[in-house]
Amino acid sequence: MHPAFRRCLLLSLGLISASLLAPRAGAGDAAAMQALRRGLAPPDWAAAPADHCAWRGVTCGGAREVTAVELPRRGLRGDFSAAAGLRALARLDLSFNALSGAVPAALGALARLELLDLSMNRLSGPIPPALGLAAGLKFLNLSNNALSGSIPDELRGLKELQEVQISANNLTGAIPGWLAGLPGLRVLSAYENALSGPIPPGLGLSSNLQVLNLHSNGLEGSIPSSLFDLGNLQVLILTVNRLNGTIPDSIGRCLGLSNVRIGNNRLAGAIPASIGDATSLTYFEADSNQLSGSIPAQFARCANLTLLNLAYNRLVGEVPDMLGELRNLQELIISGNGLGGEYPRSILRCRNLSKLDLSYNAFRGGLPDTICNGSRLQFLVLDHNEFSGSIPHGIGGCSRLLELQLANNNLSGEIPAEMGKIKSLQIALNLSFNHLSGPLPRELGRLDKLVALDLSSNEISGEIPADMRGMLSLIVVNLSNNRLRGAIPVFGPFQKSAGSSFSGNAKLCGDPLDVDCGPIYGSNYGSDHRKISYRVALAVAGSCVLIFSVVSLVVTLFMWRERQEKEADAKKAEAGEAVVVEARHVMASSVFIESLQQAIDFQTCVQATFKDASALRSGTFSTTYKAVMPSGMVVCVKKLKSVDRAVVHHQAKMIRELERLAHINHPNLVRPIGYVIYEDVALLLQYDMPNGTLLQLLHGSNNCDGDQEKPDWPKLLSIAIGVAEGLAFLHQIATIHLDISSGNVFLDSHYNALLGEVEISKLLDPSKGTASISAVAGTFGYIPPEYAYSMQVTVPGNVYSFGVLLLEILTSKMPVDEEFGEGVDLVKWVHSAPERGETPEQIMDPRLSTVSFAWRRQMLAVLKVAMLCTERAPAKRPKMKKAVEMLQEAKNS
Ligand SMILES: *[C@@H]1O[C@H](CO)[C@@H](O)[C@H](O)[C@H]1NC(C)=O
Ligand SMILES: *[C@@H]1O[C@H](CO)[C@@H](O)[C@H](O)[C@H]1NC(C)=O
Ligand SMILES: *[C@@H]1O[C@H](CO)[C@@H](O)[C@H](O)[C@H]1NC(C)=O
Ligand SMILES: *[C@@H]1O[C@H](CO)[C@@H](O)[C@H](O)[C@H]1NC(C)=O
Ligand SMILES: *[C@@H]1O[C@H](CO)[C@@H](O)[C@H](O)[C@H]1NC(C)=O
Ligand SMILES: *[C@@H]1O[C@H](CO)[C@@H](O)[C@H](O)[C@H]1NC(C)=O
Ligand SMILES: *[C@@H]1O[C@H](CO)[C@@H](O)[C@H](O)[C@H]1NC(C)=O
Ligand SMILES: *[C@@H]1O[C@H](CO)[C@@H](O)[C@H](O)[C@H]1NC(C)=O
Ligand SMILES: *[C@@H]1O[C@H](CO)[C@@H](O)[C@H](O)[C@H]1NC(C)=O
Repeated sequence: MHPAFRRCLLLSLGLISASLLAPRAGAGDAAAMQALRRGLAPPDWAAAPADHCAWRGVTCGGAREVTAVELPRRGLRGDFSAAAGLRALARLDLSFNALSGAVPAALGALARLELLDLSMNRLSGPIPPALGLAAGLKFLNLSNNALSGSIPDELRGLKELQEVQISANNLTGAIPGWLAGLPGLRVLSAYENALSGPIPPGLGLSSNLQVLNLHSNGLEGSIPSSLFDLGNLQVLILTVNRLNGTIPDSIGRCLGLSNVRIGNNRLAGAIPASIGDATSLTYFEADSNQLSGSIPAQFARCANLTLLNLAYNRLVGEVPDMLGELRNLQELIISGNGLGGEYPRSILRCRNLSKLDLSYNAFRGGLPDTICNGSRLQFLVLDHNEFSGSIPHGIGGCSRLLELQLANNNLSGEIPAEMGKIKSLQIALNLSFNHLSGPLPRELGRLDKLVALDLSSNEISGEIPADMRGMLSLIVVNLSNNRLRGAIPVFGPFQKSAGSSFSGNAKLCGDPLDVDCGPIYGSNYGSDHRKISYRVALAVAGSCVLIFSVVSLVVTLFMWRERQEKEADAKKAEAGEAVVVEARHVMASSVFIESLQQAIDFQTCVQATFKDASALRSGTFSTTYKAVMPSGMVVCVKKLKSVDRAVVHHQAKMIRELERLAHINHPNLVRPIGYVIYEDVALLLQYDMPNGTLLQLLHGSNNCDGDQEKPDWPKLLSIAIGVAEGLAFLHQIATIHLDISSGNVFLDSHYNALLGEVEISKLLDPSKGTASISAVAGTFGYIPPEYAYSMQVTVPGNVYSFGVLLLEILTSKMPVDEEFGEGVDLVKWVHSAPERGETPEQIMDPRLSTVSFAWRRQMLAVLKVAMLCTERAPAKRPKMKKAVEMLQEAKNS
């Protein structure tokens, strides 16, 4: 079929179906709205009044014709083609639903349509060519569906287009050239498709193009110079394509260009010196290309540059000294090039640098004694170079280092004892494949957070110091191919390793090597020495076995008792309610607040915990029940979960802590009013919180009719400030919260926020050994990233969890949701919004942010706080006190 004929046919088909569906002009919108209600069946419209203008999500114009239908996030899966009958419709937003099937071609009949947002659905099939008839369309969003086929040429009729978002579909074919001719195009986002061919030449010449995001396609050809000619581009994301040619010199014209990501392409030639004119540059990522020449010193003029990633190219020469001017530089990644010269000391003037990756280059010479120079370096990656000389003693000054990679260099001399000062080392210490000699410093044993230690293939001699058993977090160890001798200390991580972790040391013996220590020792060593260390080893092993047995015994007992209780409860349940009410032997109980002592009956509290029906919620550490006292007062009874009954064995301590907490009396902390201990069960008594938790408020889990009123922003903001104040107070009294989540923020009758589960932090203090059995991690989605390797909840970790809570409030989304994609949680989703070319507006809950300018302004300010709190690097997060101040400021703004 001739393409022109095909187009004509499709257009007329579209028109015919549109006119069939559309009611006659005189019939008004009522019929179409009834049809839409039947087809789409939104829960909000189930029991709606007769006047469709009063339905939720519907806006009517002056002549009572429908101008907007906005129903995002309603779980809709029906047919919405009847919307094509609403002749005056200007906005149709059905994003974040479960719509499937084809995009109705009939929508093309909507001549006044300005916004069509069908993103985040399951629509499939092609983009209907008839859509090209909706000539008023300004904002088209079809992203995150399963649309296929090519972008129809018929859309060239949409001359008003300003924002086109068609990313994350299955679209093929080329990006049509006519897009370059649109006079109003500001945003073009088509990433994650299977688009091929070139970026249309001339794109950007006829409009104020600000955002171009085409990453993860199969685009070929070069980056058109036209993109930069008018100087309006702010965000350019072209990663993972097959683009060739050079980076256009005109890039320097874009004074507002902040984000350039062009990695994983086939770009060649030099990085133009004009890049220094793009002074707003914040991110420049061009790794895995074939760029040549040297690193332009002009980067130094981009004072806001935060990340410079030029890894895996063909760059040569030295790192320009000028880059030391970049006060905001946080990551300099230039691995996998042909760069050389000495260690770039000037870079250490970048006080904010947290990652320096020079690996796989030809850097040579000695490492300077001021290797970190008091900077914030967290990742120092220098492996696969030609650095020589010894590791400087000044390495001890790298006090924030998480990872140190020095493998495959030409380093010699001893490992400095100062290495033991880098207490922050967590991810890896890798000195393998060098010429290091001398003994292993016993100070290494102080690195109690280190997970991976690789000293293999050096010339290290002497015995493995028993002090290395201080490396409590060790999982991976490799000491192979050295000159170590003597017995391998008895230490879990050592014996659990493969033999190849210790092989290649001719005189080393003991587990996990298949070498018995006896005969080797006899010849070289005083037998007393050996006997003593053996005895120590035996004693350690013995006590390990003992501790293990005790722990297993306790756990088994708990489980046995649990089962017995369950069986007993089940039997009682069979026998009827009446029997359940059996007096338990209460061992200790108290009410802290005098005025309540008459009102509370302990047996009623105990009995409430036997009725599943009275359970209110279940958290990480406890289940909470509702108990109605004979006096009529309602009390929340919190039963600690069996794994944590260890606390009961520290009863005196627990009671002391509870009493202390009862006296703290901060308006934003849940205050215990009493406790009951019977057998080995601990119940904590608290005031009833009639408005439930923040979790229920935000996500409506308490509400069955689905018609819950959306909470208003001022209320949410004051809740956020309340939580922040409670947490800041806890930090002030040196208490770390172990389980911050919206489910642990309680709301009293005036919607004041009270942070709960505080006592857990006091009762389960891991450093005091009372929580040795339970792994304390908190609630999934709120756990800070560093926990994965530190296994410690810290003050900055609390700030992170609080940040997640803020994001939850701002977006109305759960911290973890499939919606974000695999391995992406709320934090990652929000932080990667700029990469996706999305604005804050697309992140924040529009039901709040579109209500008024004042709300939106406050929300933007709170979003900033949330972003800071959820910074990946713990050191970059603010203190809670600061967070409170920033939130107050946001409120008063
Ligand atoms: C879809 O794109 C339009 C136009 O760019 C934008 O206004 C809208 O917020 C987007 N919708 C979502 C759900 O991101
Ligand atoms: C995209 O198309 C390919 C084959 O054409 C198919 O295997 C894949 O499932 C499609 N993806 C989506 C999201 O529809
Ligand atoms: C870039 O790629 C295109 C198509 O793949 C090819 O025709 C062209 O010769 C290449 N240009 C350069 C400079 O390599
Ligand atoms: C650098 O960033 C700051 C803060 O975002 C901004 O105010 C300033 O204008 C930026 N500088 C340049 C040269 O863009
Ligand atoms: C580090 O960065 C922050 C914010 O970007 C800036 O305010 C501060 O001045 C920088 N620190 C130094 C020492 O330059
Ligand atoms: C070390 O840091 C100081 C600032 O703390 C700076 O003045 C000095 O130039 C730096 N030294 C080197 C060698 O970079
Ligand atoms: C390694 O360092 C030694 C001295 O420390 C030097 O003699 C030797 O030439 C260096 N080897 C290479 C390959 O740089
Ligand atoms: C240490 O570095 C070497 C060389 O890069 C690498 O082969 C080895 O796997 C690393 N060791 C660990 C424990 O990561
Ligand atoms: C330890 O390092 C050597 C190389 O030095 C390697 O061959 C061996 O596989 C490593 N062992 C383990 C357990 O990683």
